[in-house]
Amino acid sequence: MGGLFITMEGVEGSGKSTQLRLLARRLEALGLPLLVSKEPGGTALGQELRTLLLAPHASGERWCPEAELLLFYADRVQHVATRIRPALEAGQVVLVDRFEDSSRAYQGACGVPEERLEALSHLALGGFRPDLTLILDLDPEEGLRRVTARNGALGGAFRETRFDEAALAFHVDVRQRFQAIAAREPERAVLVPARGTEDTVAEALWAQVAPRLVAAGFRGA
Ligand code: TYD
Repeated sequence: MGGLFITMEGVEGSGKSTQLRLLARRLEALGLPLLVSKEPGGTALGQELRTLLLAPHASGERWCPEAELLLFYADRVQHVATRIRPALEAGQVVLVDRFEDSSRAYQGACGVPEERLEALSHLALGGFRPDLTLILDLDPEEGLRRVTARNGALGGAFRETRFDEAALAFHVDVRQRFQAIAAREPERAVLVPARGTEDTVAEALWAQVAPRLVAAGFRGA
């Protein structure tokens, strides 16, 4: 058995973290061997890169989108080599919060041309990709409203990243890029509407995951 590699993607405020937790709990309850991780920050190197990538830049220098992209890929290459691949080879289910499609959507929206994104993907990962990518789809206006409410409730200082401050137009672009990925690769990438209750969304996600588990030979799914 070769394991099963599932990634979860979505725009800001789509409820991705909550849904990932619910899905992980469900997989654990079935007694499946499971690795849950995230990008950026799934390794020790990744944690350092995460701090660099998500902190406001003290220097105020504007980063070239390609420079930023390469840091996300440094995180990813280390993550795949030292955690994701070994877990899959050991027959585990691997569930990762954001992966390559975030680079396609976010760094694409920052101006990196698609051919360059695909060339780098090939260079860095050589065609390695998730078995299933769940994309939580939500109107960014709604997503940003949720994020703002959450930050407000926590005193305003918590969890703010420079990405949250970006214009709505940027997030609309990000969403469209996620939608385009799902249209291009329907076998791998599935859009799941993120409106509705937590339970409804969780069920919609499970409806995608369960058959893949069975097809991958996991019992109890
Ligand atoms: P994070 O705090 O993990 O929040 P969340 O996943 O809940 O949004 O922030 C990760 C941020 O990094 C998010 O704004 C998307 C961005 N990102 C990229 O721009 N490119 C990437 O390749 C990845 C993995 C993330």
